[in-house]
This record gives sequence, structure tokens and C-alpha cells, in this order.
Amino acid sequence: MSQSSLSATATLEAGRQARAGQRGLWSSRWVFFLAATGSAVGLGNIWKFPYITGENGGGAFVLMYLGCILLIGIPLLMAEVMIGRRGRHNPAGSMAALAREAGASRHWRTLGWVAGLTGFLILSFYSVIAGWALAYVPALFGGQFTGITPQASEARFGAMLAEPGMLVLYGTLILTATLAIVGLGVRRGLEQSLRFMMPGLFVLLLGLVAYSAVSGGFLRAVEFLFVPDFSKLTATSVLVALGHAFFTLSLASGAMMTYGSYLPEGTSIARTALMVAVADTTVALLAGLAIFPLVFGNGLEPGSGPGLLFVTLPIAFGQMPLGMLVGGLFFVMLVIAALTSTISLLEPAIAWLTERYRTTRIKATLGCGAVLWVLSLGSVFSFNLWSEHTLFGRTFFDLLDKLTTNWLMPLGGLGIVLFVGWALNERLVREAMAMRSPVMFRVWWWLIRLVTPLCIVAVFLNLVGLL
Ligand code: PHE
Repeated sequence: MSQSSLSATATLEAGRQARAGQRGLWSSRWVFFLAATGSAVGLGNIWKFPYITGENGGGAFVLMYLGCILLIGIPLLMAEVMIGRRGRHNPAGSMAALAREAGASRHWRTLGWVAGLTGFLILSFYSVIAGWALAYVPALFGGQFTGITPQASEARFGAMLAEPGMLVLYGTLILTATLAIVGLGVRRGLEQSLRFMMPGLFVLLLGLVAYSAVSGGFLRAVEFLFVPDFSKLTATSVLVALGHAFFTLSLASGAMMTYGSYLPEGTSIARTALMVAVADTTVALLAGLAIFPLVFGNGLEPGSGPGLLFVTLPIAFGQMPLGMLVGGLFFVMLVIAALTSTISLLEPAIAWLTERYRTTRIKATLGCGAVLWVLSLGSVFSFNLWSEHTLFGRTFFDLLDKLTTNWLMPLGGLGIVLFVGWALNERLVREAMAMRSPVMFRVWWWLIRLVTPLCIVAVFLNLVGLL
């Protein structure tokens, strides 16, 4: 290496260390694992996975989703954490820093920007659904579901959606909590609660699966989830499976890159990412195993849409001993799982505003909060006042959900993968990943360079009928 490039490398390294020092880091690898799992595990696993599995015919869809997690999600999760840790900036800033280091075009940073925007848009509707979960907390503790019939549960959910005022109220509470946590940087308290809430949610889910296992409908549920019937799979369902792999692992939305930017050196990215993905997938499958026996046992419709969780689980809570208490606790934990995701959805935008425009954290948070709140009204009204106002046959909520999950995330993810695999060089990436096993690095490197991008492209070609 020439003298000048040596000193350039030293300057880059010094800059990185200085930035790492200024921005603050996770206090340990364990805390990063908790935060990343907190981001990944949320409504995506417990609310969305079951209902889209129901809509897309079950087993074959689940298989596609698992394949996407393995071949696309996990390699990309590692890549995103690596980008963040090496760049030590908001997503756009980190991508620009790496591009500079590799001598690639600085325009790659646009992808970081798109990712941050994607996260922002997701947050606007995610907070509304988290609001539904919050609304169920007092209802369950108050015993409103005791002995409820499936029809009454459906009707009650419908009645909730019909009241925009309540939905706005609960959605606003979720947004406010998110803004407060992110704006004031009170993550300490959150770290503590994560330690108890994540395992708590897990135990309650296991309990629910056990309850569902003995209450009829379990075998049909297992068959529905795990015996693939490929005749039910359409090109669109493959795209939905791909999009959901991104959504559930918080990819291509800035979240994992931003969290990676607070990760101390010396932590194994590969091992931590793998653990996050395993925890995330396990929670989703458990949620499916808890919900579908209730669907079949009570003669409900698996493809009934976003209300699935909110209609089925209260029936079980209404029948079981201590159901009020267990049900109330379950929704409390669901709200917390959602909050640990919402803060990771907001953090990239705040990091970008404070680093790029040097605004204070509080100002950035208030500004984002105002825009998010207005956007969230569109999602609330999609279920009542504006339910008849559609574009391409979709409501505002539907459009935002599909735009972000099925398009922005997979295409943004494709861009990030190409950036890492082709715009950066192998030496830099190997150094930044710091994997202990050279063989594992090779495997990952080839996944990122070829398998992952080709799989994403294949899904889109399949969609337009070219495959
Ligand atoms: N992964 C979260 C969930 O499954 C949602 C999310 C998406 C969070 C993108 C952050 C970024 O609920």
C-alpha cells in the first residue's frame, strides 16, 4: 500500500473511532441482541404472519417464507449490521462512508435514504395497529370477553374499527410513547424491560400453544401450516412471502443498519444475526400454532384478514380459567413488543436529521411526530370513514402496507445487497464482517453476491410472468 493510501486508511479509522465514541454504543453484545430482537419481534410475527399465512393458503406459503428468511433475510441482516458498524452513521451516512472507503459512487447512499423513508412510512400504520392491541388491554382486564362467542368477538372487533375517535386516541398514545422513548433517549429503562418482556411474551405464547393444542383444531392447524399445497401458491403470494421476510427481520428500513451503528467492535455479527433470526422465526411459528387451532376449532375463516388475531385470541381468553388476567397480560406484552419495533422504525429518521442537519434530538422527534400523526390518520380512516375510498381497489392503509412491504423493502434490499456484493470490495467487507471462520465468510459472501440478488430478481420475474 502506498504511503498516502496508508495515511488515508489511518484517517478513516480514526474518524470511525471518534464517531463511535461520540454516538454511544450498546453496553454489551447481549443488549444489542435484545434490541435487535426487540426490533424484529413485533406485530409482524404475531399479528401479520398468521393473517397473511391464512390469506395465502398456509403450508406452501410458510415454506416460501422460511426459504426467504434463510437465503435472503439472514445474509442481508448480517450485511446491514456490518454497514452500520463500519459506517457509524445513519443509514445514508454509513452507506456514503463505505462507498467512499471503497472508491464507489456516493449515490449509493440514496438507498440508505429510501430505507429510512420506508421505515418512516411503516411506522405511520404500524402505530395504528399497535393502538388496536393497546385498546384490547383494558377490554380484556375488564372481562369484556368472558364467555364470548366467535360471532360476538367478530362483531366486537368490527365495532372497534368503526370508531375513528378511539383508534386515533390509541394510535396517538403509541406514537407519543415512541416519540418520548426515542426523543428523550430513555433506552436504559427499555433495556431493562426488554429483559423481562421478551421472555415473558415467549412463555405466554408457549402457554397459548399448549391451550390451543388441547382445545380441538390443533391437527388441522398443523396440517394447514406445515403441509404444503403448492396449488395454492400464486406469484403474488411468493412476493408477499419475500416482503414479509424483510418486514419481520426489520430489513431495508434503516432499523438494523442504525442499530448496527451502535454495535461495539469485536462482537460477532454473524452469530448475533443468526440468533435474532431464529428467535424471530420461532415467535412467528408459535403465533401461528396458537391462532390457527382457534380458527379451525371455532369455524372461523383463515383468510379473514388483519382482524384474525384480534378475533381469535379473545375467544380463547374468554374460555380459559384466569383468562381475563392472562389475556390482559398478553396484550400488554404485545404492545411492548410493538413499541420495541416502533422505536427502531423511528431511530433512523432521527439519526439522519440530527447528523445531517444538526437539529436537536427533541426538535427532530417533534417534527417527525407531527408528520407521522397526520399520516397515521389516513390508516385509521381506511377502516371506517374512507373504507370506500380506494385506489387500485385498495384503501390508504392497504396501499402503504403493500408499497412498503412488497415493493420498497425487496427492491431496496436488492440495492443494498448489490452495494455490498459488487460496489464494495472483498477485502473491506471481510475486514468489516470480522468473521472468525473463513469458510463461513465464503459461504456468506457468495450468498450475498449471487444467491440473494438472484432470488429477489426471480420473485419479481415470476410476478410479471417471465419465469
Ligand atoms: N420487524 C417488525 C415486526 O415484525 C417490524 C419492523 C419493520 C420493525 C421494519 C422495524 C423495521 O413487527
